[in-house]
Amino acid sequence: MKDDIKIILFGAPGSGKGTQAVVLAQRLGIKRISLGDILRDEVKKQTSLGLEVKGYMEKGLLVPDELVSRVIEENIDRQGFILDGYPRTLNQAKALDEILGKHSIDIDAFVVLDVDEETVINRLSKRRVCKACGAVYHLINMPSKVEGVCDVCGGELIQRKDDNMEVIKKRWEVFNKENKPLLDFYQEKGKVFSLDGRKDKDEVFEQLAKEL
Ligand code: AP5
Ligand code: MG
Repeated sequence: MKDDIKIILFGAPGSGKGTQAVVLAQRLGIKRISLGDILRDEVKKQTSLGLEVKGYMEKGLLVPDELVSRVIEENIDRQGFILDGYPRTLNQAKALDEILGKHSIDIDAFVVLDVDEETVINRLSKRRVCKACGAVYHLINMPSKVEGVCDVCGGELIQRKDDNMEVIKKRWEVFNKENKPLLDFYQEKGKVFSLDGRKDKDEVFEQLAKEL
């Protein structure tokens, strides 16, 4: 793997984008650009962007394209990166192409983490995240050493606001509505790698490293 690789990590809510992106970014020394994390941070800080996007996120709806494109443009440069959670719509993919074109950047791979609804529900309903540092756990699959306490920083583990059953189902529905045209777009460019995201975290990573 080259250290200035540019990857898009794509998959349903709970497919493991964040989990894999953190490890990959560490291994390669490249940055992870997680749109969801950036937006949650804006909400936490109550910035004007945060106030605009809060309602969409809590309902499991996509934030309007023009708002997210702006955030991406501010975060992209010629160094290697992993885009976690962007693009999610065909419009966003086109907007991204425009942004990348301006800076003469090419995407190396569009990686798809394939999962089913049952996996998504199981993972998201039992996910816990650290309130302080954002580290991600799962009550069964990746529990913290001490229940409710982050292994990394000792912070409190909480549930994300959008990880309740009603919103999880909405997010799954939104994902399924948007994903086909987006996949076709990258398939045409010949950059798509699909992985079985239902496998164990380390097995998924191994497959990912092999493909790249
Ligand atoms: P975002 O934060 O990106 O949420 P999401 O897409 O719903 O994905 P998640 O973060 O829930 O899941 P993940 O795939 O990262 O899984 P994770 O690794 O945590 O976006 C949130 C919201 O922001 C959106 O709903 C929208 O409102 C807005 N937004 C974001 N991007 C946008 C965009 N482009 N356009 C418009 N709006 C946008 O894993 C999940 C759980 O499973 C964890 O508990 C983990 O420990 C466990 N796990 C992971 N991998 C495995 C494995 N292999 N085996 C067993 N357990 C595993
Ligand atoms: Mg995530």
